[in-house]
Amino acid sequence: MRKKVTVVGAGNVGASCAARIAQLELADVVVVDILEGIPTGKALDMLQSTPVLGVDVTLTGVNDYAATEGSDIVIFTAGFPRKPGMSRDDLLWANYEIVKPTVEQAVKHSPDSILVVVTNPLDAMCHVALEVSGFPKQRVVGMAGILDTARFRAFLSQALQVSVEDITACVLGGHGDTMVPLVRYTSAGGIPITDLLDAATIDAIVKRTAGGGGEIVKYLKTGSAYYAPAAGAVQMAEAILKDKKRVLPCSTLLEGEYGIHGLYVGVPVKLGAAGVEQVFELKLTAEELAALQKSAGAVKELVDVMQPKLAEVRAAAGRG
Ligand code: LAC
Repeated sequence: MRKKVTVVGAGNVGASCAARIAQLELADVVVVDILEGIPTGKALDMLQSTPVLGVDVTLTGVNDYAATEGSDIVIFTAGFPRKPGMSRDDLLWANYEIVKPTVEQAVKHSPDSILVVVTNPLDAMCHVALEVSGFPKQRVVGMAGILDTARFRAFLSQALQVSVEDITACVLGGHGDTMVPLVRYTSAGGIPITDLLDAATIDAIVKRTAGGGGEIVKYLKTGSAYYAPAAGAVQMAEAILKDKKRVLPCSTLLEGEYGIHGLYVGVPVKLGAAGVEQVFELKLTAEELAALQKSAGAVKELVDVMQPKLAEVRAAAGRG
């Protein structure tokens, strides 16, 4: 039987995810959105691309979660994107009000699914999905690190004029301006980039990576990036569906790793059929660890603000 993925949100990120899942022939896709007609029309359009692409998957667009029944993975993309001048954190309450009910609906119909969160502010929304679903932490994971490392890798590949495929990079931390691109763990075909580029060039690329989302918002004006975020989310879905055991930077609940307790933060994890199967703890220098903890502190500020609401969610579910 084919695998099934639900994509919540038929906007730019959601539609790009659905199209990419179809292109890679990974699973049947259900796109769900509150907007009438939009998910149905977009899914129908994508379905009509499948004969040309030569892929056997079905795509359906709906308003009602009944059609999402029994999904293996649910990708949450619904939410407001930021506009120029906004930080991802400015989206907290508007997107809380979207993520909470959509997670409630989705897990009712797919109680054994793995939830991949994409909606911003990413790490904070992972906390909402975890509390609302009541799922174990292994089955609630956030997409940010793949996007942030992809930006880092793309810029490095341009600077070095070598294939993006040969650049391996590691970006830790929350999905915000305090993210921590780890230069020491970044290489081109195994050659440390510090052997290939001067410090000023690397520093400029690190800064451009950290502000990579904002750079795109400035150009688009009415929204944020979607092709690369969708590619990241689908790479995670593929790792889970095919039980690939990929080592990818993802937002996961840390419980003591890196000295961080009870916070979703981006770190390298092993992604397979069970979701987050392992958290890798790197041996960081004091300076790197301080940068990671600062980044985790930025996530904590948002989670602290949400605590009363999250406590209500727990109490309502009898987990208080
Ligand atoms: C970005 C947004 C989508 O980084 O978070 O592009």
